Amino acid sequence: MSNVAQENAPLLNAIGLKKYYPVKKGMFAKTQQVKALDGVSFSLERGKTLAVVGESGCGKSTLGRLLTMIEEPTEGELYYNGQNFLVNDHETKALRRQKIQIVFQNPYASLNPRKKIGTILEEPLVINTNLSAKERKEKVLSMMAKVGLRAEFYDRYPHMFSGGQRQRIAIARGLMLDPDVV
Ligand SMILES: Nc1ncnc2c1ncn2[C@@H]1O[C@H](COP(=O)(O)OP(=O)(O)OP(=O)(O)O)[C@@H](O)[C@H]1O
Ligand SMILES: [Mg+2]
Repeated sequence: MSNVAQENAPLLNAIGLKKYYPVKKGMFAKTQQVKALDGVSFSLERGKTLAVVGESGCGKSTLGRLLTMIEEPTEGELYYNGQNFLVNDHETKALRRQKIQIVFQNPYASLNPRKKIGTILEEPLVINTNLSAKERKEKVLSMMAKVGLRAEFYDRYPHMFSGGQRQRIAIARGLMLDPDVV
């Protein structure tokens, strides 16, 4: 398959994804492999929701980390619009960073306590776009309104929010770059 986007391909297509973690049980023990994921395949169509259900520790978050490429799979293939997503060139990396976003389970741990909400939400735009400071602030305020956060929260720090508000900040951050997959 040539590495170009295809119109009729699913948005995301995973084939046999595996993630093994090396672990040592004691100083002289042999290194063993924890099979966090052992051959996961699925295809996700545009506009659809895919739910992955299973007991604690079965590998759901690991799968999320592989899709966003926070971690690389031990084995398997991943396609985005038919395009090989596991290539590490500049262009593919930028695409992965912008088109797939993750909202973490614990927003308190994933929001920098030293940064104001406005700064946190603006960050993806600073890194990935050429928007001016004024345009960035406008986008941030409009996203805050969309997720139900008042404009005066712009200059507040994460600890000044409730758990539900913090979760909405994390969701707003995930949506700042208009991703295809959350
Ligand atoms: N970095 C790591 N090193 C070793 N083992 C790991 C690592 N990360 C995850 N694991 C193991 O991989 C398995 C899957 O973990 P994962 O976090 O994906 O589970 P989960 O399905 O998201 O669970 P939960 O519902 O509790 O969030 C667990 O057994 C976990 O202990
Ligand atoms: Mg999890």
